[in-house]
Amino acid sequence: MARQRERWGTRVGAILAVTGSAVGLGNFLRFPGQAAKYGGGAFMIPYIIAFIIVGLPLAWAEWALGRYGGSMGHNSVPGIFRSLTKRRSGAYIGLLGTLMPVMIYMFYVFVEAWCLSYAWDFLAGNMSALGSSAEQIKTHFEGSVGKGANGAVFSTETPRMLFFVVICFVVNFVLIYRGVSKGIEKFCNIAMPLLVVCAIIVLVRVLTLGAPVADKPDQNVINGLGAMWNTSGPDKSLMQSLSNPEVWLAATGQIFFSLSVGFGLILTYASYLKRDDDVALSSLTAAAGNGFCEIVLGGMIAIPAAFMFLGQQGVTGDSLGTFAIGFKALPNVFNQMPAGQVFGFLFFFLLFLAAVTSSLSMLQPSIALLEEGLGIGRKASVTILSFITLTGTSFVVYFSKNFAAMDTIDFWMANFFIFILATFQIILFGWIVGIDKGMAELRRGAEIHMPNILKIVLKYIAPLYLLSVFGLWCYYQLPGRFKAIITPPKDGPPVVLMSLGLILVVAAFFAIIVNLANKRWDKQEASK
Ligand code: ALA
Repeated sequence: MARQRERWGTRVGAILAVTGSAVGLGNFLRFPGQAAKYGGGAFMIPYIIAFIIVGLPLAWAEWALGRYGGSMGHNSVPGIFRSLTKRRSGAYIGLLGTLMPVMIYMFYVFVEAWCLSYAWDFLAGNMSALGSSAEQIKTHFEGSVGKGANGAVFSTETPRMLFFVVICFVVNFVLIYRGVSKGIEKFCNIAMPLLVVCAIIVLVRVLTLGAPVADKPDQNVINGLGAMWNTSGPDKSLMQSLSNPEVWLAATGQIFFSLSVGFGLILTYASYLKRDDDVALSSLTAAAGNGFCEIVLGGMIAIPAAFMFLGQQGVTGDSLGTFAIGFKALPNVFNQMPAGQVFGFLFFFLLFLAAVTSSLSMLQPSIALLEEGLGIGRKASVTILSFITLTGTSFVVYFSKNFAAMDTIDFWMANFFIFILATFQIILFGWIVGIDKGMAELRRGAEIHMPNILKIVLKYIAPLYLLSVFGLWCYYQLPGRFKAIITPPKDGPPVVLMSLGLILVVAAFFAIIVNLANKRWDKQEASK
């Protein structure tokens, strides 16, 4: 019996779902951390260049390829790649578009649970009880997430974080089970406007704080905005920042992660469009919506707020990693702010909503592969996927010491393979499908003019830029990572190796599924 094809209910629904996939922890936590680390306004220059040269073109390519693959009857990335490359081996490359989102989901849902637990802590007054003591807030964070020891999250007397992880899991899987239109689309239709409203309320509060610390008039809104936008910082000129290749790598990586391009997510979402639905304007709208949430809401809440209460140290202090602004500096800021309990709750609740709309999109590619490749129903595919992700997330939550498991999976999946898949997709669009055919796809149903210059960008400039950045990135990053793999830890289990083992096991599982799917597709093609 032919599988019943799912579709988006409305065009706005499809755009909100893709925007929801893009707007996530990357916008509100990763972006402020990266911008602060790499020089505020100076970071914005490579960031905008990367958006124009690779981010937006790649998003266009993914939307067009996904809708094209959908018109050939596929929703899974392996199926789409097999059709577009006209080769069975294409399906194995597409395996990456399933593996990466699932692996990222395994740790993403853990951080999603932190956001929910912080929202609860603000609502229940637990956070305000910690006052403005940076030490107590840090201890609370590291204790809640088990940063100090493996197994800590499981062994606490009241395993509250586990409770929040379970809630997040249930929310994600209930929505995924309800399907593309009734689950993902309906949730994004409500969650996206709601999170933007929450963010605007918090932003207005932050931008109307004046100079909140009585004896520090320099720590005011204007200087807080300066910390985000000034191109030269207290200790670095613009040229010094821009001549550091790491800034370019970080900016490009941020664009990928934030727009959800290079993951295979957009391919799957776009495959639920109709053949003549617009992709050009829809993709631009989703990318612009993501940029608004990232720069205006994410960056202009976190950085100025941290600066106004904690000074430059609060923005670029040495303790600040990806999570520090969000989970250490901002709770301190909210605790010092009038009605901070409400604003703290709103901020972390909006983070939670943003995280759910993204994590949902990480599950759908696997559901599509299981359904399409094995011919099984929604119930069976959701059950299989919940078992895999539950195992993986338990692993990440258990090996929480210094976030070693999370960091390893994040590095290989959300940094290394994202470049590989992104590069493959742009080559698929410009060279394998062919730039003329690719552009014709992009222009089909387009509600905006797609100029011819895009052909040059998509065929030459974007792949060249990607390959150069990737080469540089490997040069800087890989030696350290390989060293971490071969150097056994002084104490405790070899978590880095074990995390790589987990990736391999899940990859092997999906390789088997792709193999079975290929056989099924062979038969379907033979019977046509
Ligand atoms: N694009 C998603 C985010 O920014 C993954 O969090």
